[in-house]
Amino acid sequence: MNQSQQRNIHNQGGQIPQILNGKYRILQALATGSYGCVYQAYDITQNKFVCIKKIKRLTIHQIGGYGTATQNMREYSILNSLNHDNIIKLIDQFYVKKPQDQCENQENITLCMVFDYIDQNLDIFIKNFEKKKSYIPLIYIKSILYQIVLGIYEMHVNGFIHRDVKPANILISAQGQVKIADLGLARQVTQKRQTFTPGWITLWYRPLEMLNNQTNYTKAVDIWSLGCVFGEMVRLMPLFRGQNEPEQASKIIQSLGIPTEFSDYNCLREKYNPEQPFNYERNFPYLPEDGIDLLKGMLNINPSQRFTAKQCKEHRFFDQIKDLSLEEINQIAQKQSEQCQKNYLENQKKIEENKLRIQQEQEQQRLKLLQQYQQNRQKCESLEASPEYDL
Ligand SMILES: Nc1ncnc2c1ncn2[C@@H]1O[C@H](COP(=O)(O)OP(=O)(O)O)[C@@H](O)[C@H]1O
Ligand SMILES: [Mg+2]
Repeated sequence: MNQSQQRNIHNQGGQIPQILNGKYRILQALATGSYGCVYQAYDITQNKFVCIKKIKRLTIHQIGGYGTATQNMREYSILNSLNHDNIIKLIDQFYVKKPQDQCENQENITLCMVFDYIDQNLDIFIKNFEKKKSYIPLIYIKSILYQIVLGIYEMHVNGFIHRDVKPANILISAQGQVKIADLGLARQVTQKRQTFTPGWITLWYRPLEMLNNQTNYTKAVDIWSLGCVFGEMVRLMPLFRGQNEPEQASKIIQSLGIPTEFSDYNCLREKYNPEQPFNYERNFPYLPEDGIDLLKGMLNINPSQRFTAKQCKEHRFFDQIKDLSLEEINQIAQKQSEQCQKNYLENQKKIEENKLRIQQEQEQQRLKLLQQYQQNRQKCESLEASPEYDL
């Protein structure tokens, strides 16, 4: 524990920090959402950091039956039914009751879910590489992606869809162990055709079938999001950054196109008219052929042809890391890091050169038009000045 964390635990400007359930000392808020708040805390009985997700304003009635369970009660029950190395584990749970004066049945209950504290999320991990001006070593990309795939596979075989796969919901320990977190939007699926609320997944990671307001989407939505996360790890920036649903759909279609045999989206094809087929090799210049193949399989526009979690898990891209320990992966990553920095600088240079080239081309085009305009003007003027003009 470092000094600032020590300070946080023992005292904060003379205030005694809040202790929950007699053993969790709240240190700081990590995130706030509509459901409540996520805190870093310290377990004073076991001397370790934990993460507490507080879900506010449940009524006793809601706790009593599944039928009325809220979205976040769903997270709690799904977490309790999954046990996998790559899915965050619920290590404790308790309720905090806050009686309200109006009516006993309306008593406010806060559910607190306790997890092991994991050092960082994938969003921060990616941003740190960007700050260092280096791509992520390929071996890390393989290891992280493989662990996410294993966690998602576990959810899918148990009949759950995560529905919010994105870097901020993927936690990574200092050793490189990955845990999928935030099952707040997860849903159970049955064999029967089911309909769901459209548009759960965070916009940038949402597949076309969700943007098209469809409600009968499948587990394939998680694989699309995985593809977006994969691409983001490679490029250090999100693949499709729309501001709203139509813009998100347009960005996907403009980039990837829509397969002609896929008649569901004829209207979208006409509307957005992709310019040219997406060139994976040019857009991911440092990703080897097996990685490109996996990425293409994950980012298939057609959900019924998109890779399944099983196909992803068995893909040859992961062959290299399946038998390696996290320590061995870290060692290989060290060896790859110098090249990753070179690649980053080389590619940045290319991007800058490209920008400059486009600017120059635009400037040339502007000058050419100006010249043409001036020539035409001169012609008009000389025509106007000629004696035949009046006739
Ligand atoms: N077990 C944990 N250890 C450390 N940080 C966590 C943990 N769980 C969540 N966080 C952090 O809190 C953030 C929000 O948690 P999350 O479960 O995703 O809730 P939300 O529904 O608010 O997105 C995550 O993006 C992550 O940075
Ligand atoms: Mg989240």
